[in-house]
Amino acid sequence: MNDIRRSNTGGDEPTTGPHTQLNSPDSRIGLVGSLEPGLCEELADLAQRCIAGYSDDRPVSASLVRSRLANALTGAPPVLAVARHGREVTGWCAVRRPEPGEARARLWGPVVAPSARRVGLGRRLLRRVVDAVEWPLVTTDVPVDRAGAGDFFSGSGWEVLDTITVLHGSPAASVGVLDAITAADVTDLEAYVATAARRFAGVEASFAESTLPRWRDDARFRPETLLLDPPTGSLLLALAQRNDTASELLLAEVWAAEADVRRRLIAQAHAVAAGRKVAIVRAVTRQGPADFVACGMRVTGRCHTFALPGGR
Ligand SMILES: CC(C)(COP(=O)(O)OP(=O)(O)OC[C@H]1O[C@@H](n2cnc3c(N)ncnc32)[C@H](O)[C@@H]1OP(=O)(O)O)[C@@H](O)C(=O)NCCC(=O)NCCS
Repeated sequence: MNDIRRSNTGGDEPTTGPHTQLNSPDSRIGLVGSLEPGLCEELADLAQRCIAGYSDDRPVSASLVRSRLANALTGAPPVLAVARHGREVTGWCAVRRPEPGEARARLWGPVVAPSARRVGLGRRLLRRVVDAVEWPLVTTDVPVDRAGAGDFFSGSGWEVLDTITVLHGSPAASVGVLDAITAADVTDLEAYVATAARRFAGVEASFAESTLPRWRDDARFRPETLLLDPPTGSLLLALAQRNDTASELLLAEVWAAEADVRRRLIAQAHAVAAGRKVAIVRAVTRQGPADFVACGMRVTGRCHTFALPGGR
């Protein structure tokens, strides 16, 4: 598959190197070729401000931004456009290169500072990264309750691909942490996860094989929060994250064929959350929320992912 377009393909800024800039009335957009720690701090800070109070609100840190934007297996940086007004970051948008076997590259953002909105900056950032790559794209989860975000993508010609339910729960020590078998307890973890990926997520073999290496690259990954049910080959991937003001355990994947196994794993995750002293348990799911609700979680929002029609 083709990767990055080398020429300027219709954006309003010429591409001259890893740190290209353009002149515009307010913000200058540059394509940035590497994820320096200071830049990751700036991106995290703006992203956190943009999601505060919405259903995708979560602790964002520089290490999380870096691990979500760079490729897990190669460490390759994303195609990243950053807008600045003077020195201040006013917006950014990125495409993470697809991992081998990944059907669509993930689009992150755009995120635009509240003070810089409705003057076309989001549209320019989006066009800048979309024009720079040729992979089929999918957005991250866009909350339906965030004013304008869905309108922004549908107005730009993107279509809803998936609907995701967001749930919140409270850590609870009612089920002992000792009941949980975790990734720290098994030997051939890579094979366990690859088998589960083929069986429950239905992904093709090479993508299934790289599932654990990709998960491990996430700054939030710990073996102790990957819960297993060896008799059924099931698993629950939970990711703990903190920053200065918040902490959570995210239930990112629940792969099990039977409801009672799913519910046992979800209950164990709540006990793990209590043991790790995080403030909330958050779950995101494409399936129905019934198993999470049965474990005491409540639906707090819905998100859409959007894709460009015609395989882009
Ligand atoms: C969504 C977001 C990126 C839009 O950025 P922006 O710079 O204000 O967007 P633009 O000025 O380029 O607007 C482009 C079009 O999107 C739509 N749009 C943008 N904000 C909107 C709003 N609040 N309500 C309704 N429509 C909106 C409009 O159709 C607009 O065109 P118009 O101004 O000619 O009517 C910005 O609001 C944001 O950062 N939100 C928080 C982060 C976020 O949700 N990002 C999306 C991916 S997670």
